[in-house]
Amino acid sequence: MANFPVINMEKLNGAERGNAMELIKDACENWGFFELVNHGIPHEVMDNIEKLTKEHYKKVMEQRFKDLVATKGLEGVQAEVTDMDWESTFFLRHLPVSTISQVPDLDDNYREAMRDFAKRLEKLAEELLDLLCENLGLEKGYLKKAFYGSTAPNFGTKVSNYPPCPKPDLIKGLRAHTDAGGIILLFQDDKVSGLQLLKDGEWVDVPPMRHSIVVNLGDQLEVIANGKYKSVEHRVIAQTNGARMPLASFYNPASDAVIYPAPALVEKVGDDEKVYPKFVFDDYMKLYAGLKFQPKEPRFDAMKAAQTA
Ligand SMILES: [Fe+2]
Repeated sequence: MANFPVINMEKLNGAERGNAMELIKDACENWGFFELVNHGIPHEVMDNIEKLTKEHYKKVMEQRFKDLVATKGLEGVQAEVTDMDWESTFFLRHLPVSTISQVPDLDDNYREAMRDFAKRLEKLAEELLDLLCENLGLEKGYLKKAFYGSTAPNFGTKVSNYPPCPKPDLIKGLRAHTDAGGIILLFQDDKVSGLQLLKDGEWVDVPPMRHSIVVNLGDQLEVIANGKYKSVEHRVIAQTNGARMPLASFYNPASDAVIYPAPALVEKVGDDEKVYPKFVFDDYMKLYAGLKFQPKEPRFDAMKAAQTA
């Protein structure tokens, strides 16, 4: 199998730009995932976020998680658990309006560091969207505009910890799913792996790499690219040793953004147009809420049915 795609973003500024763009294109078409190095976010910034997130977990989240495990009797389960994930999480919204100051139990310096990190991630997400535009033959800014709606994109970070799990064969860290939204930027620590994506019917590990950002594409980019790009199923395998700490930042369309295939990417196949549905993003999210851990195709079909009803 081909190697997991790693993009050195520095190469986008030099003679090897063509090669790097080709790598991104191949990753979007065939993996739904790629990993970025030299992405411009300073290593000290990432180290600080990692340190503060781990401290916050120890101070605030760990006991809560232990209590939950005890309440649900998960330590001693004998059969596969299919209705919950072995993860401890909280969510910070950045756009359209930041919730960082309202989320309880965060130290001021953690809030400040997260605000700064989010700004940098927002810039990187928009830069990536423009690289995708270029590869798709869409005008610069097309994807950002498609996500904008009447306010601003929905941009937020899910901060997770996957504590050591006594029964990783029975409880997934996170069950298999595709992401509903736009483009996802993941900062995972480099020591404990567990993230896998489905490629050609096989689960492939996303390699942990110090200071990298893992990128994956959500269902909305598949729709706008009219299937040229694909959102890909992924899951997290909990580990028996060592806690994993990923921060997943979701750069998604605004709730009222109307999502539809870019007209330039709709091909005529005979008399029929093979075309993905058109819908309001919030309607998709309402459907997704109940069907996250199921295949995406029925979601697209349901949207298509609603469109023609
Ligand atoms: Fe996901």
